[in-house]
Parts: sequence; C-alpha cells; structure tokens
Amino acid sequence: MVCADTSYSAVADRSAGTVDFDRVYDRHQFGSVKWANQWDEFSPRVEGENLLSLWTADMDFRAPEAVIAALREAADHGIYGYTRRDPRHYEIVQSWFARRHDWAPALETLLPAPAIMPSVAAMLRTFTKPGDGVIVQSPVYSPYFEVIHGSGRRLLVNRLRLQNNRYELDLENFERLAASGAKAFLLCNPHNPAGKAWTREELTALNDVCERYGVLVISDDIHCDIRLSDRPHIVFSSLSEDAAEKSFICTAPTKTFNLAGVPSATVSVANKERREALLATMRASFMVNANFFGRLALEVAYSTGAPWVDQLTGYIDGNVDLVFKFAEDRLPGITPMRPDASFLVWLDACELDRKVGGIQQFFVDRAGVNLYDGRVYGPGGEGFIRLNVGCPRPMLRKGLERMSKALALV
Ligand SMILES: Cc1ncc(COP(=O)(O)O)c(C=O)c1O
Repeated sequence: MVCADTSYSAVADRSAGTVDFDRVYDRHQFGSVKWANQWDEFSPRVEGENLLSLWTADMDFRAPEAVIAALREAADHGIYGYTRRDPRHYEIVQSWFARRHDWAPALETLLPAPAIMPSVAAMLRTFTKPGDGVIVQSPVYSPYFEVIHGSGRRLLVNRLRLQNNRYELDLENFERLAASGAKAFLLCNPHNPAGKAWTREELTALNDVCERYGVLVISDDIHCDIRLSDRPHIVFSSLSEDAAEKSFICTAPTKTFNLAGVPSATVSVANKERREALLATMRASFMVNANFFGRLALEVAYSTGAPWVDQLTGYIDGNVDLVFKFAEDRLPGITPMRPDASFLVWLDACELDRKVGGIQQFFVDRAGVNLYDGRVYGPGGEGFIRLNVGCPRPMLRKGLERMSKALALV
C-alpha cells in the first residue's frame, strides 16, 4: 500500500508560488566545493571573484522554501542529537517514487543510507571479493572508478558508443565483460555525464545479460527526478521479478532539491538475504544513524516539493535550450548533447581540445569559466567538457558569452 504523506502540509504552503530561479546568490562563505574550490584535486587551482563555476554537480538555487523553513525551525531548536528514521520516513520515500516514477518499492525493501557512494562501497564490500570484476559504462561519474579501485575490485569498462551525438549501449562488449567473470554492474540511471535516460529495451537487454552470467546490478538513480525529455525514468527493479531480485536501487533527494550538504539516501533491496547482509555491513560500518538535518530535508522535500521540481525542470529546460542556441552560432567547435534528465550538459569539443591543448584550462584562462574536464569521466571522455546548467540563467548567459568571446579569438 502506498501512503501519501500529509503531515508536512502546513509547511508545504510556504512552497507555493513562483520560484525565482533567476536570483544569484554568493556561495563562497560556506565551504562550497563548487565556489570555494581552490583546494579540490579535480579543479584547476584558480580562485577569484571573476571565475564562474559551472562544474561540480550541485545547483546554485535555494532549496524549496518549505525545506528551508523546516531546517530553520530544527536549527533553532538547537539540540542536534542522535536521530532515527521512523516508518513514516520510508512511506514518504515510497510515496515519492510511486507518484513521480510509477514505482512503489515495498516498504520492507528500503534501507537507510547516509548517501549514494558510501552505500555503493558497502555493496561492493558485501557482495564481491577483492579482485572481482565490476562493470561500468564510460564516460561516467568518476567516483565509480574510485570506489572500485579503492575497494580492490577490478574495473571492467564498457565504453558507450557515440552515434549521431547520442550514447548507445555496446551490448556485445557488455556481454563479453559479463562472461569474463564480472560479479557486479554499476549502472548510472539516468547516465551522468550525458543525462541519458535508459529505455526499457536497453535495461531489459542489460538485465538479460546479467541474469545469464549471475551479475548483480547496483543502480544509481540519483539523477532520476529532473526529467527533460518525454522518456520516463525506468527503475531497473521494476523491469521484472528477476531484475528486482538481483538489483540494488540507490536513491536520494540531494540532486533534485539541491541538498548535497545535508545528505540522506535510501537503498531498495528486494532480495531478503542480500538486504540483511547489506544492512549488517552498514551497521558494522556505523552508517545507519540518520543525519539530523538530512532526514528532515528528505521528508519535507519528498512530501511537499513536487511543484518546486516541476518549476525547476521547466527552468533547466530553458537553460539547456540557451546552451543549444549559443552552440548553434556562437560556440564554434562545440556540440552539446541533449540530456533526457539532470542539469548537466555534455559538450563535445574534441577538435578544439586538440587545437588549444586542453579545453578546460583554455576556458579557465581565457574565459574565466570553470567546466568539468571530460577526461575525469574515463575512456571516451577525452575532448569533452561538462557544463552544469543548474544555475540562474543570467549566470549561465554570462558564462556562455565569455566562452563565445574566448572562442572568437582562437
Ligand atoms: C551519478 C552520481 N552518483 C552519485 C553522486 C553522489 O552521490 P552522494 O553524494 O549521495 O554520494 C553524484 C554526484 O554528483 C552523481 O552524479
């Protein structure tokens, strides 16, 4: 049974109305990875008022007003002790996915998690052994490489095929890797960096191969909520019973509502033995206590934030259109890929990259714009850059203007 949550309806009223996504906020003072970034290993060591940061994947928007109000009230209470998620917490998660993605995970399948990546690390530790192969499809979110290498597992890369400016599955190679003894597949659904929403047919084909070779599927659905095309988000475990049995679905409200600094996540595991085994690992790693603010933010966001996400999605869509408009006549050498989901646009700049000797550094030096270098995303990412459009349009426009001016001089 899916229980719609109404207990936050009082704060929901504060979320009503039109959100001003155009407003620019200064983010330097709170240790933002995106804006106070001079110590980050993946960022060029640059700093200064003039650098526009359009790289790491959080947004420059305030969270929904109802979330802010609830966090403020909790902050004012002043006692931030140990915190638990009660059964209602999981009903709120279930209700969100039922309403937004037509997937209502049974409540008993849901486990608490501090965030996505620590849960992925716990799954690898629990269900694979050192040296076991884990498949990823590159170019892909780079911490996947770290979590596999960091836990002593063997990285198996299935490169996505670039066809007509879209990524396509290389199923033959995927099967070859599965047959080579892979134990797990780390699926990014929708895919970061390109924002590709995997279709039912593609996921079914992947599931068939995984079923044949006994490969477990860890699905990272963190980018599922901001849907820019008419492709629905298909949750892997909703494909069939055998897909549910072999999969782990990792979800979080952190991208959707811009809550990465107050994290909280949920993992759905249909198979009872695996669920218990994973929970045992998480307990032994002291991962199950809730974050005082993260728990609350998730509940308020999922309970009341649907209209906010709808507005946000429309705004992001407009930002993506702006990128395409610029690329058409003012960004020579740059071809954007249209995302189905997320707030990230993957830009093909292969020739330019060669010409200027490194496109990321070029834009930092000549345009004062910081983008994410495609190389970070592994094989196939060379020559690409990732542009984060989860920002006020005036800021994006300024960044694109600067890039355009810099390119005019190449
Ligand atoms: C695909 C993907 N997975 C996971 C994460 C991070 O999740 P968490 O902070 O919950 O570990 C990100 C953040 O950019 C991401 O893009």
